[in-house]
Amino acid sequence: MSSYAITGASKGIGREFVRQLAANPANTVLAIVRNPESPDISELASNHPNVHVIKGDVTDPKSVLEAASAAAAVTGGQLDVLIHNSNAVDMATMSLNPTQIPFDAQAIREAFDPSFSTAIYGGLWTTNAFLPLIENGIQKKIVHISSAMADVDLIKAAGVSNAVAYSVAKAGMNVQVAKYAAEFAPREIKVLALSPGWVDTWEGEKPFPVVQANEFLLKLFQAAEPELKGQIQPEESVRKCLQVIERLDAEISGLLLSHNGDRIRWF
Ligand SMILES: NC(=O)c1ccc[n+]([C@@H]2O[C@H](COP(=O)([O-])OP(=O)(O)OC[C@H]3O[C@@H](n4cnc5c(N)ncnc54)[C@H](OP(=O)(O)O)[C@@H]3O)[C@@H](O)[C@H]2O)c1
Repeated sequence: MSSYAITGASKGIGREFVRQLAANPANTVLAIVRNPESPDISELASNHPNVHVIKGDVTDPKSVLEAASAAAAVTGGQLDVLIHNSNAVDMATMSLNPTQIPFDAQAIREAFDPSFSTAIYGGLWTTNAFLPLIENGIQKKIVHISSAMADVDLIKAAGVSNAVAYSVAKAGMNVQVAKYAAEFAPREIKVLALSPGWVDTWEGEKPFPVVQANEFLLKLFQAAEPELKGQIQPEESVRKCLQVIERLDAEISGLLLSHNGDRIRWF
C-alpha cells in the first residue's frame, strides 16, 4: 500500500494523477485543492473511497501547513510520494519576449508573481510542510512538476523566447529541487523535477487565441522535434510520469527529467 499527495488536483494533470492512482484500491490518494467543493474532484472522491480531498493553497504557508496536518490525520502521519503540481501564470504577459517587459516595478511583479508564488514559494512551503510525513513514509519521494520550457537546450533549439516568467520560475524550481536533493541525500529522500510533456489540459472548446498560440508553439517545437504532431492527452502524460516516479532513486534525485524519463525526449 502506498500513499500519495498531489497539489493542484482540481483539474488537468493533477486530477489525472488522482484518477490513475485511485484506480488501485491499495493506494491512499490525497487530492490537495483550493476549493474542495469543485465538482470534478468531489465526484472523483465520491466514486473512490481511497481519495481524500484536502483544502490547500500552496501560495499561503498557513494553508499548506493545515493541509499537511489534515493529510497526516488521514495517513497516520506518513506519506510515500508528494507531487507538487500546482501552477499559475499571468496570461496577459505570456506572449511577451524579454525585451517587451516594461520598466514598471508593479507590472513586472504582477507578471512574475503567479508563477513564482506557485512554483518557487509554493514548492518550498509544500515540501517543507509535508517533509515530516515523507520522513515517516516508505518510498520517501518528492516530485515537483516542472517544464521543458525551463530547459536551456530546448529554448535554444526551438527558439522559444516568450513565457519568460513561467520559464524562469520553473528553472528556479529545478534548482530548488537540486538543492533539496543535495540536502536530503544522506536521509534517503529522493527529489525530482519532472516535465509532463506538452499536454492538452484545456477544458471545453479552445478559444481562437488559444488555438493560435498552440499552432505557434507547435511550429517552434517542431524545430527541435520535427516529428511532433501536437499535444498529448493527460492520460498518456501521467501514465508515463508515474513510470518515471516509480524508478526515482538516489542516482536521478535532483535532476529535471521528461515524462519519457530522459533529458532529450521532451514531447
Ligand atoms: N499542460 C502542459 O502542457 C504542461 C507542460 C509543461 C508543464 N506543465 C506543468 O504541469 C502542471 C499541471 O499543468 P496543467 O496543464 O494541468 O495546469 P492547469 O490545468 O492550469 O491546473 C493547474 C492546477 O494548479 C492549481 N493551482 C493554481 N494556483 C494554485 C494555488 N495557489 N494553490 C494550489 N493549487 C493551485 C489549479 O487549481 P484551481 O482549480 O484552484 O485554480 C489547478 O488544479 C503545472 O505545474 C504545469 O506548469 C504543464
